Amino acid sequence: MKIAVARETREGESRVAMVPELVGKLTELGYEVAVEPDAGRAAQLADEEYVDAGATVDGAALEGADLVVSVQPLTNETIRRLPKGTATISFLPTSQEVDVVRDLRDCGITSFAMELVPRISRAQSMDALSSQALVAGYRCAIVAAGMLRRFFPLNMTAAGTVQPATVVVLGAGVAGLQAIATAKRLGAVVQAYDVRAAAAEEIASMGAKPIELDLETLEGAGGYAREMTEGRAAKQRELLAPYIADADALITTAAVPGRQAPMLVTREMVEQMKPGSVVVDLAAETGGNVEGSEPGEVVRIGNAQVWGGRNVPSQMPGPASKLYAQNIVNLVELMTTKAEDGDDENEGRPAAFAPDFDDEVVVGACVTRDGSIVHDGTREAIEGPAEPEPAPADPVETTTEGEASE
Ligand code: NAI
Repeated sequence: MKIAVARETREGESRVAMVPELVGKLTELGYEVAVEPDAGRAAQLADEEYVDAGATVDGAALEGADLVVSVQPLTNETIRRLPKGTATISFLPTSQEVDVVRDLRDCGITSFAMELVPRISRAQSMDALSSQALVAGYRCAIVAAGMLRRFFPLNMTAAGTVQPATVVVLGAGVAGLQAIATAKRLGAVVQAYDVRAAAAEEIASMGAKPIELDLETLEGAGGYAREMTEGRAAKQRELLAPYIADADALITTAAVPGRQAPMLVTREMVEQMKPGSVVVDLAAETGGNVEGSEPGEVVRIGNAQVWGGRNVPSQMPGPASKLYAQNIVNLVELMTTKAEDGDDENEGRPAAFAPDFDDEVVVGACVTRDGSIVHDGTREAIEGPAEPEPAPADPVETTTEGEASE
């Protein structure tokens, strides 16, 4: 069985789906690993390191592969070259990648989306949304510290005292908590706000001060946030305005699954910030938490420099690739049938890539299979609502001769 590691071709993508350090985990399972040349180059991983780890580096790596792993979805051209029945694992934001999903369906590819891996305890080690959010959250705090033309920590020196910077973080999920922890480690005074009930305790556990607003919490399904009504959003903005005006750095990381990022900070609120302040909007790509932020750009609003995030995990490709590759290894292991101890018949045989579609993690992450879109939300969005099942015909009462009728 062969696993191919694709070279990423999308602009701005520096990560790679497998790192040399983890190739051995796949070969131990019995797989052959083939890597496209230069696949790890943008993450400072040389082809020789993959070869030393037991992989082959081959321009035709994808040919004859049972499974192709990548960070971004494969291109339409690559998908059309894959034989029917090949499996793929990658990030696959299905609502934005409609043409890719159609090709995966039409070419009979079994595709799995990393963002659809259910967020249950058993699948935490396969949760690439969390691993990449951790990288993004750290990076946000470092960007803010780098852009701010003053110290994050308190400095008491013979020449006098320099007060620490004040950092406000909005959204305290995986990325936000990591931004808080990083800003705290750099010595800033950190305050943070999130709509979820559990967030205040999580913020405090990172050593930051939760911002308490006189507003109801917004808990949705699965421990995620719910979308705000416009009235609630306006009130939240009004109550947050003084905290933002006081901050030297504002970091926003708020998101609601399946929706545009909530707009938490208006242009007017940024205009109230002090000269030299910085704003880092991690959500810029998904609509922005800050009005006027642009993904991949630094724009000036009032006195503040506003940095908009664009594929932020890719800005730290080494650690981001390593964590992603570990998520892939754990998912592949779940989908691998191994010879049981004492199974003499199969002992020593290579692993079989055989996803168990009765497993909720496997079925939850699967987008296309056997020529169909099997993920309900994606199928409905692309193919429209399913035809209603025809109503069952009324059972015809039959009485056979000699049967007593009541
Ligand atoms: P996310 O990326 O969807 O959202 C980021 C944060 O923005 C969330 O904490 C959310 O509450 C917050 N937010 C949304 N609207 C907001 C608003 N109007 N104002 C302020 N903040 C707002 O979430 P992420 O980081 O993926 O995880 C959120 C939660 O999901 C975690 O805290 C945890 O409860 C759960 N989770 C569970 C996992 C598991 O069981 N494997 C793994 C990761 C997260």
